[in-house]
Amino acid sequence: MSKTVYYLKDYQAPAYHIRQTDLRFEIGEPDTIVKARLLVLPQQAGAPLVLNGSAQLLSLKLDGEAVADYRLADETLTLDHVPSESFVLEIETRVQPYDNKSLMGLYGSNGNLYTQCEPEGFRKITFYPDRPDVMSKFTTTIVADKKRYPVLLSNGNKIDGGDLEDGRHWVKWLDPFAKPSYLFALVAGDLACTRDTFTTQSGKNVAIEFYTSEADQAKVPFAVESLKNAMRWDETRFGLEYDLDIYMVVAVGDFNMGAMENKGLNIFNTKYVLADSRTATDADFEGIESVIGHEYFHNYTGNRVTCRDWFQLSLKEGLTVFRDQEFSGDRASRAVRRIENVSLLRQLQFAEDAGPMAHPVRPASYEEMNNFYTMTVYEKGAEVVRLYHTLLGEDGFQKGMQLYFKRHDGQAVTCDDFRAAMADANDANLDQMALWYSQAGTPVLDITGRLNAQARTFTLNIRQTVPATPDMAEKQPMMIPVKVGLLNRQGEAMAFRPSENAEAQTEAVLLLTEAEQEFVLHGVGEHVVPSLLRGFSAPVYLNYPYSDEDLHLLLAHDSDPFARWEAGQTLYRRAVQANLAAIGAGEPLPEHHGLIEAFKQMLKQEIDPAFKAMLLRAPATAELWEGAENINPLHYHQAREALLDNIAKACLENLVYIRTWALDQETESGIEAPYEYHPQLAGIRSLLAAVRLLTIRAERHAMMTLAAYSGEQHAEHEKTVCARLQDYITRYEQLTPNMTHEMSILNTVNHLDEDGRNHLLSRFAERYADDALVMDKYFILVGSSHRPDTLKQVQTALHHPKFSLENPNKARSLLGSFARNVPHFHAENGSGYEFIAEKVMQIDAFNPQVAARLVQAFNICHKLEPQRRKLMTMQLERIAGMDKLSKDVAEIVGKILS
Ligand code: PHE
Ligand code: ZN
Repeated sequence: MSKTVYYLKDYQAPAYHIRQTDLRFEIGEPDTIVKARLLVLPQQAGAPLVLNGSAQLLSLKLDGEAVADYRLADETLTLDHVPSESFVLEIETRVQPYDNKSLMGLYGSNGNLYTQCEPEGFRKITFYPDRPDVMSKFTTTIVADKKRYPVLLSNGNKIDGGDLEDGRHWVKWLDPFAKPSYLFALVAGDLACTRDTFTTQSGKNVAIEFYTSEADQAKVPFAVESLKNAMRWDETRFGLEYDLDIYMVVAVGDFNMGAMENKGLNIFNTKYVLADSRTATDADFEGIESVIGHEYFHNYTGNRVTCRDWFQLSLKEGLTVFRDQEFSGDRASRAVRRIENVSLLRQLQFAEDAGPMAHPVRPASYEEMNNFYTMTVYEKGAEVVRLYHTLLGEDGFQKGMQLYFKRHDGQAVTCDDFRAAMADANDANLDQMALWYSQAGTPVLDITGRLNAQARTFTLNIRQTVPATPDMAEKQPMMIPVKVGLLNRQGEAMAFRPSENAEAQTEAVLLLTEAEQEFVLHGVGEHVVPSLLRGFSAPVYLNYPYSDEDLHLLLAHDSDPFARWEAGQTLYRRAVQANLAAIGAGEPLPEHHGLIEAFKQMLKQEIDPAFKAMLLRAPATAELWEGAENINPLHYHQAREALLDNIAKACLENLVYIRTWALDQETESGIEAPYEYHPQLAGIRSLLAAVRLLTIRAERHAMMTLAAYSGEQHAEHEKTVCARLQDYITRYEQLTPNMTHEMSILNTVNHLDEDGRNHLLSRFAERYADDALVMDKYFILVGSSHRPDTLKQVQTALHHPKFSLENPNKARSLLGSFARNVPHFHAENGSGYEFIAEKVMQIDAFNPQVAARLVQAFNICHKLEPQRRKLMTMQLERIAGMDKLSKDVAEIVGKILS
């Protein structure tokens, strides 16, 4: 199959604009007929009119006359001869939504119809210049059977409607804002509506409507509250007020992504709408708040100002992720939220940036746009927006935002336009910031510090290197703000002057712009430990020759929560590396006395529970092997497991103390309804979960040793372990009104190779058989267990009556979690690779997007040790050799194999 690569440098302005788009959907069984009436405005006389489309064309008229002179090819419809003045094009197409399993375009789910058009789904519905820089006003008329489809929704305001004699009814919607086709949406079906209202700061009343199944209505209130909080927040922090009379959210169980910001009619994965504390965890509630916020914030950053082309995707996504992160941070636990975001970025985006799919925040090319909804575009993109915020401060950043909207409201623009607004509003030169959009790869900072006690200076030397990536070998130095503080031997903050004549201060942002630079901090006469990259002020790797003692000091005392957490993470990383070296050399593992002492001190310190929970989490295995070659994943897994077993055993007493404390806290916190979601209770419960995950290791170990010493038989071991498990089961029963506890306990026992674990899981699956979102959790437990029989259990689960490969949430839960399950996916005999490859091929036949996500588990191929590399390559070649491989999967497999 020949491949087409699309390049940013080839961008050309559209030859035709569409002034007005009038759509009419006649919904029938099994066909839906779509009639589009486009008012076309030529921009370049004589240019052919090229429309994108892959639906079945029924008829085509130009100014009322049937057109015969057209060409259909490559999912395009070309008219070589059209008038040079404005004209009307009428297009009729036929689609079969209930056969559409790609979940792009118009598709059926559970008897209802939904659309997903971003980025290129609209062309599956009709023929259109399906590109974001063609912005048009839309009306949508929907005609359907009234019984079967009582609810008919589209963008904007409902302006007309009525009943027909044949049992059908119709509704007409008008969206007053011009928009690109990717923001079009339609929903038709039998849905229950939960209503509310919001009064904007200028006093306008906005109707809020959430559409779900009737049974799910009880789980909608939290999402509605979140929306109202988001609307208020955007007014107070960004001065942005909602612009339509109605805001609709529709929840659908079959959805490829998290949610979609269609103008006035968001469509959401049920996962990000439905919650009550019996069936959703605290993390689920937090996810809902942030995704509801995210889609709402797109109304300005994405919809009012949109992208010129898909290379600019981060213009809306990076900025909107930044905004949703700030929203969550302002709502509660800012420091913990920041650490969560950073840890996600480092685990997934840094890996992406170091692998075959590496691309800049603004990609220079793509084969399939769907493959570029990436951690780089979203999460690194948000970090780049945060750089402006760090450089310009909140006021300067807001000035930049105001200028951005003043200049570009109603336009489709580029990342350069955003940067220019930030620069011009602040009279700043941000030209060098352009490199953050064009250079892939995670910059590395190598820093050293030098005290001159006599001169009372502490000099930081910073060297930056940006690694080569498959798309670009040579890189230029970037603009990197490094936020620093200094601690003395007692762990106290030391004041310093960032330049000779500056005021003394305890924190400063050093602005790195060259490959190597020295920063002299004045007024420092004693030994200091620098606290670097505070708040993770830039998305980079940092090396500083800290001693372990330095790190203990930072872990115990740093006033910056990120830097403090990072000191702990570095200690974990060093300890795992030491274990790894011992495993490689076949030597006994080191004891890690220093780390354990520091750890015990930390456990005794009075620290916000949510933050303490973060400190208790070691870097994920996949984060530990970043930068390494010839990886044996199992060794990393073993090294990490051994370290955690060791820590748990040594700190058991402290951990058990915290466990008891946390269990009491929840009911004694003074917060009513302790089983409801509440940020403070969520913090306590996350500490409890982290502690449970550690104690199970030590308690198990202790029981085993005890049993071994007392010369008991194997069966006796089993009994002791099972007794302990019984204890968990009892707790599990007691705590059932709260899913956070329930999941925490199931996660805790999930790796145990005992029957008790299987009983617990089956009972869970029975109890929640009718709750699709809880069943997702069940499948995640199955896919992520370290038990030796996990692959077998996963294969069995494929036939579970509640499992469906066609449902993306289910596929991701069972297969996605298995593909991240280090010991099983990377099983030495290649069985994990073979299994995932099979599923990729199977899914690719109907949903390329989901297949393309799954196949990226193979991104690590070239970093693996030779034997596994060979096994993985075999599977990749098998996939590559399929006939009818999608562009989505072909692009990724091609990049891995090249
Ligand atoms: N634009 C959506 C968001 O980030 C994501 C999305 C992309 C959803 C493509 C569906 C399809 O909010
Ligand atoms: Zn988004």
